[in-house]
Amino acid sequence: MSITTGSALITDDWRIAGRVYRDPQVFEAEMRTIFARCWIFVAHESEIADGGDYKVAQIGRQPVIVSRNSDDGSIHVLFNRCRHRGSAVCQREYGNANHFRCAYHGWTYGSDGRLIGVPFPDAYGDGFDKSSMGLAHVPRVESYRGFIFACLDPDAVPLREYLGNATRFLDFIADLPGGIELSAHASKLEYEANWKLQLENTIDCYHFSFTHKSWLDILNQRGTSSPATWVENVARNDSWRTIDFGGGHSAHEYGPLEAHEGRSPVANFTSGELLPFNFVVFPSLGFVGAQLRVVVPLSVTRTRVLLYPMMPRDYDDAQREEVLRNHEAFYGPSGAGSADDIEVGFDRVAQGLTADAVPEDWILMSRGVEREVVDEATGIRYARSADELPQRAFYRRWLELVEEGLDA
Ligand code: FES
Ligand SMILES: [Fe+2]
Repeated sequence: MSITTGSALITDDWRIAGRVYRDPQVFEAEMRTIFARCWIFVAHESEIADGGDYKVAQIGRQPVIVSRNSDDGSIHVLFNRCRHRGSAVCQREYGNANHFRCAYHGWTYGSDGRLIGVPFPDAYGDGFDKSSMGLAHVPRVESYRGFIFACLDPDAVPLREYLGNATRFLDFIADLPGGIELSAHASKLEYEANWKLQLENTIDCYHFSFTHKSWLDILNQRGTSSPATWVENVARNDSWRTIDFGGGHSAHEYGPLEAHEGRSPVANFTSGELLPFNFVVFPSLGFVGAQLRVVVPLSVTRTRVLLYPMMPRDYDDAQREEVLRNHEAFYGPSGAGSADDIEVGFDRVAQGLTADAVPEDWILMSRGVEREVVDEATGIRYARSADELPQRAFYRRWLELVEEGLDA
C-alpha cells in the first residue's frame, strides 16, 4: 500500500488521488496491467449457443469476436482485425455465420479464425502461407458455469483460481432454476467520466436513497416499497453486509445467501429481481437485480456500459415480460435509475474532479474501514451495508496492478 506522499495514488487512510480518475497515464497503466492481464468476461454461453453463433466484445480497448465453430462447437475468441490491412472483419453485434468476410478486399475467415479465402491469391506468389494468416486468437479462453472469460496474458493463472472466493456467487446465478440466458441482449449507455466510477457505484448502498430518491418516491406511491424501510435496513440491518472476497471481487448481500439458495427466483422476489445481492467480478463485470453489467473503458473520461437482463430459462412469457419491464423501468434509456447515476454519480464527479487546484486533491473511500472484520479461515472481509468495503476491495487489487504499470 502506498503511503501519503504527493504522488501516491491511494493513501493508507484510504484517500484516492483525483488523478486516478482523470490522468491518461493512469489509464494507459490500467490497459497494460489490468485489461492485458486479468480475465475479462466476454460472453455467456447462451449468447453463442449454436454452431456459427458469434458476438463482438471488448477486452479493454481490444475488439474481439467470440464465436462457436459450426464443425466442432469449440469456442474461439479472435481479434477483430483483418490480417490483410487491418479492417475490422465483423461489424454486427451478434449473429450466426459460417465465415467472416472482410468488406474491404474480401478476405474470408472461418468461425475458428482460419483464413479460408483470398481473392486473386496468385499476386502473393507461391510462398504465401494461408494457414499462418488466420485471425489472431486471444491466448486464453476459459468458461466457468457458462460465463466465458478471455485473457490476453498467456501466463495468467487458471480462471477458477482467478475467481477465487467469488465463485460461490457465480454458482448461485448459474444454479437459478433452469439456468440463465442473455436472450434479450444488452441495452447500452455511454458517459463522459472514468470507467471505475460505474464499478464503485455497482455496490454502493450509501448513495441509493439520495441519488435515487425520486425512484423510491415512485415505489412508495405504488405501495411496493418504502424509503424508510430501505434506509432502516441500510443503517441497522446486520444481515445486509458488504463482502471483500479478495482478488478485487466484492458483493453486497441483502440477507444471508444460504436463505435464498435452492429457491426459485419467483419465490425470492416478485418484481423481476433475481439476485439477493450486488456483485462485482474484478475488473469490469457486475450483477445487480436481474442484470448482468459489463463496463468497457474507452478512454480515461469515456465509458461504455452494457446492461443485459438475465432471463431464467424456466420463466414463462409473463415472467420474462416482468423482467424486461423492470429492466426498462430502472436501467432503460427512459428509466429512472441509470440516468440518476450517470448525472450524479459519474458526470458530476468528473466535473468536480476537474477542480485539481484544491489543496487536497483526494476523494475519501474510508467509510467503515474501522469496522471491517476478517474471517481468518477464508481471508474474506465483511463490513456493514453502506460501508465502502467493496470499493476498497476493488482498489486493493487495482493498486497492486497499476503501480506495476506506472513503473513499467
Ligand atoms: S483489409 Fe481485410 S481484406 Fe483487405
Ligand atoms: Fe445508483
